[in-house]
Amino acid sequence: MRKIAMLGSGFIGRFYAESIHGQRGRDRVVAIYARREESAKKFAADYGCSIWGTDMESVIANPEVDMVCIALPNNIHETAVLLCAKYKKAVVSTKPLGRNADEALRMMKAVEEAGIFAGYLEDLCYTPKFLKALESVKNGALGRILWAKSRETHPGPHSDWFWDKEQAGGGCMLDLGCHCVEISRNFIGKDVRPVEVMCWAATQVKPIDAEDHAIALVKYENGAIGQFEVSWTFRGGMDLRDEVMGTEGTIWINNFLRTGFEMFTTGKGADYVAEKAESTSGWLFPVGDEVNDLGYNHMFTDMFNAADEGREPAETFYDGYVVNAVLDAAYRSAETKQWEPVNLPVWRGREGLTQESTLVDYDENFYLIKEEVTHDGRHKVILKDKETGRISERDLT
Ligand SMILES: NC(=O)c1ccc[n+]([C@@H]2O[C@H](COP(=O)([O-])OP(=O)(O)OC[C@H]3O[C@@H](n4cnc5c(N)ncnc54)[C@H](O)[C@@H]3O)[C@@H](O)[C@H]2O)c1
Repeated sequence: MRKIAMLGSGFIGRFYAESIHGQRGRDRVVAIYARREESAKKFAADYGCSIWGTDMESVIANPEVDMVCIALPNNIHETAVLLCAKYKKAVVSTKPLGRNADEALRMMKAVEEAGIFAGYLEDLCYTPKFLKALESVKNGALGRILWAKSRETHPGPHSDWFWDKEQAGGGCMLDLGCHCVEISRNFIGKDVRPVEVMCWAATQVKPIDAEDHAIALVKYENGAIGQFEVSWTFRGGMDLRDEVMGTEGTIWINNFLRTGFEMFTTGKGADYVAEKAESTSGWLFPVGDEVNDLGYNHMFTDMFNAADEGREPAETFYDGYVVNAVLDAAYRSAETKQWEPVNLPVWRGREGLTQESTLVDYDENFYLIKEEVTHDGRHKVILKDKETGRISERDLT
C-alpha cells in the first residue's frame, strides 16, 4: 500500500484522489497540503486523510507519507520536487513538469541525485485507447511511423493562475501541448531525437499575455513528423484526438467528445456531463468513466507498480524534461518564425539516425511506387526505372 501526500486540493488533486481511491484500490491519500486551511480540511474530510496542513514542507516530511503527488500550479512544481529530494520521498508530478526545460532538468537531476522514485503524470499516455494503439504501433501494425498528430482544444482552464503567464509559464501551448508532444513522441519512438520545431502561436480571443491558440510541427531525426494543435478558445467541450500514420497503417483515436456515447436532453435534471462540456442540454457527448477514460487509473497503477518493483514507470521526469525542451523550441519558433532547434543538454536516446530509404524494389530494373486494382478491374503497378528515373505504369490484368 502506498501512503500518499497530495499537494494541492484543486481540480487535478481531486481527480487523482478519485482515481487512487477508486473501485477497491488499496493505495491511500493519507495527507493533504493546500494553500488555505479550509480547502485542506475539506479535502481531508472528503478523502479520509489523517494529515492535513498549509505548510508544504511539514506535510512532505511527515513520516506517515511514503510518496508525494504534486498537483500544484506550474510555478510551484520545482519547489515541491526539491523538498521531496530533501526528505527522500518518492514523487509523482503532474504535467507540465517545468515551466521550461531548465526547471525540468533541475528537477530531473534532483531526484536522480537523491536516488528517489520519480514519475511524470502524463495521463493521456495512459488512456485505454492510447495504450492499445501504442501496442499496435510497437507490434509493427502501422509499419514505420511517418506522422503523429495530437490535438487538445477546449474553452480554457478553470483557475486564475493558468491565465497568468508568469505563474503558468506559458499559455495553451505549455498547458495542452505538453500532452500532445508526449503522445507523438511515444508513437514515433521515445529514443528518436526531436530536432527542430516550427510553430505558429497567437492570442486570438482572450485578454492575456500568453497564447490561446497554437499549431506546431516537430521534426524528428529519423524523418518522422509530430504535429500538435492546441487551443483555449475552442467551443464545444474538450476535443482530444490523436492520429498516427505509418507505412502500413493508420490509427485515429477520439478520447473524449465522440466516444460512442451520445445523448439528447431538453436540460431537465441537468447534471455534470464531462470535463469542460459547455452545455447540459441538446445533443451531449458524455464520457462513461472519466477517471478511467482519461488514463488516471492506468497511470497510477503503473506508477505504484513501478515504485514497488524498483523500476521506472512508462513516463519519467526525463520524458517531462524532453517535452519541455520541445515546447521551449516551439515558443522560440513562434517568435522568430523559423525552424528552431530543440536544445537537449541531456539526451539518452539514439544518436545519428537518418531517414529510411523510400526505395522499394519491384524487380531488378524497377522500384515500386504503387500497386492498385482500379474500379474497372485493372490491376496496375506504377514503377520507377532504377537507371533513368523515368516513371511508368504497367497493366497486370
Ligand atoms: N490532465 C492533467 O494531467 C491535468 C489536468 C488539469 C491540471 N493539471 C495540472 O495540475 C496542476 C494543478 O492544476 P489544477 O487544475 O488542479 O489547479 P487548481 O487551481 O484547481 O488547484 C491548484 C491547487 O494548488 C494549491 N496551491 C498551493 N499554492 C498555490 C498558489 N500559490 N496558487 C494557487 N494554488 C495553490 C491549492 O490547494 C489549489 O487548490 C497544474 O500543473 C496543471 O497543469 C493536469
